Formats: sequence, structure tokens, C-alpha cells
Amino acid sequence: MKVIETIDDMRQVRRKLTEPVGFVPTMGYLHEGHLALVRQARAENQSVVASLFVNPTQFGPRGGFKQYPRDTERDLALLEKEETDIVFMPSVAEMYPEQFDSWVEVGKLTERLEGASRPGHFRGVTTVVAKLFNIIEPTRAYFGQKDAQQLVVIKKMVADLNMNLEIVTVLTVREPDGLAMSSRNTYLSPDERQAAAVLYQALTLVQQLYSQGEKDAQRLRQEITSLIQEEPLANIDYVSIADPVTLDELDRVKSPALISLAVRIGSTRLIDNIVLQ
Ligand code: PAJ
Repeated sequence: MKVIETIDDMRQVRRKLTEPVGFVPTMGYLHEGHLALVRQARAENQSVVASLFVNPTQFGPRGGFKQYPRDTERDLALLEKEETDIVFMPSVAEMYPEQFDSWVEVGKLTERLEGASRPGHFRGVTTVVAKLFNIIEPTRAYFGQKDAQQLVVIKKMVADLNMNLEIVTVLTVREPDGLAMSSRNTYLSPDERQAAAVLYQALTLVQQLYSQGEKDAQRLRQEITSLIQEEPLANIDYVSIADPVTLDELDRVKSPALISLAVRIGSTRLIDNIVLQ
């Protein structure tokens, strides 16, 4: 496994990689969710590149860039074990030199849900992902369903800007109690960690009510909201039942529909989703 820190070196090494090249962008502090992406990339490609880069432009002014958990040594050991060929690990100055002043922005899709709660977040994500695609030129890039809106936004960017690669979706990896794995789970106290199970319980409840015939989206939103409100440590940011491509909120639930949640557990904001089929 080669660890590469500059864009020039990355381009040089890229030229010698055997096609197809699978790429897994991450911000590090890896867990089983990230590793599921790496494993799928490994299974489907001749070469695998992963990136470790905590991207400052996708955090708000008080959004936790500095506090974001980091453990590069452990990340590199995990990536090595998954037979990653190349780890691209640039510095902030390498990706954003002082004179940097160009941005990639997706429109309407980024105004809602995570975009509404975190202004500028997706502009940072699409800009860094576009840069990484340009530097690494992957055949395929792997993203987790965990960040459902991120996936929709990236697919839209790739389609609208005619980027020449395939975006592959990997299902959400969960803890035994259903909590979606996330680097942010490390911020939870033991009580909060227990309370956090309410997100997946709420998603499971909608799945169940939907299977039993409930198609009224507003009633389903109400059921989710009531269940989460029973948990004293939980504060809802949003509960959404939307079209999985346009992210337009639905009145009547039709299949497929994206059910997504953002909930604060104590001071930690967690997101999760399922697709109703
Ligand atoms: P990060 O939060 O590190 O996530 C990297 C990738 O891992 C994303 O595609 C995310 O959806 C996926 N992932 C995280 N938790 C997962 C889980 N429990 N199951 C399956 N996949 C999971 O997302 C980012 O970084 C950044 O925004 C990035 C795309 C790297 C741009 O900076």
C-alpha cells in the first residue's frame, strides 16, 4: 500500500494503476461502514484508491472541523488490511492553496434536509469530491447510503457536469441495535448511545406501518415524531418522507420513498434513513 500526500505524486501513480480503478473518499476515523465501501471497491476493481481528508469547506464556522476525530495510524492499518493499493492523504494547503476560489454547486437538491440545516455544507462536499475525481480519475466511486442526500447530490453533479465515472451505492452498516455506524457516535455518552437507538426504531416503525397499508405521509411523519419525542435525550431536527431522486416531500407514500431523519442526541447531531420499497 502506498501513502501519497501530494497531487503531483497522486497523478503519477494513477497513470500506472491497472483499470478499472475503484475510489473510496473518506474523512478518516474509519469504521465498518467505511470498510464496507473499501471491500466492495476491492471486489469490483483491479485497483483501489482510498482518500483520507477531513474537508474544512464542508463544515460550518462552528461545525466541528477542528474537533473532528482523527486517527491516521489506525486508519492506515485498517486500509492496509483491506488490501487498498493507494491512500491519498493530502494536507489542507495542498487541496486549498491560499488563492483557491472556485466552487462546484448543485442547485435545488442542496437547499433542503441537510442543506437547510447546514448552509454551505454540500458546496464543500461537491467541491472536494469534484477535485478528488479530477485528481484520481476513478472508474467507479463508492458512497454509503447512510448519507442519502450526499449520494443524490453527487449523482446529480456527475450527471449534470458529464463526469466520466460510475457512482456505486453501498448499503448502511449498522450496530447490533440498529444504530448506523458513524464517526460521530464516538461523541455519545453511554446514556446518549442507548438513546440513539431511537433513530432506527423510528425508521423500522415506518417500514412496518407502511407494510400494513399506511400510505399517508403526514400520518407517518407524525408517528415517527411521537416515537422520537418519547426519548428525553432526543431532539428532532427534521423528519422527511420524500421522493428519493428529487427529494420533494410526498403527500402519499409511493415506492420507492426515502425516509430520512436528523436528530440531536444531547449535542450530537445524527442522521439516518431507509428506502421504503
Ligand atoms: P465520511 O463521513 O468519512 O464518509 C465516507 C463514506 O462512508 C461516505 O460515502 C459515507 O456515506 C460512508 N459511510 C459512513 N457511514 C457509513 C455506514 N454506517 N454504512 C455505510 N457507509 C457509510 O461522507 C464523507 O466522509 C465526506 O462528505 C466525503 C464524501 C469524504 C467528502 O469530504
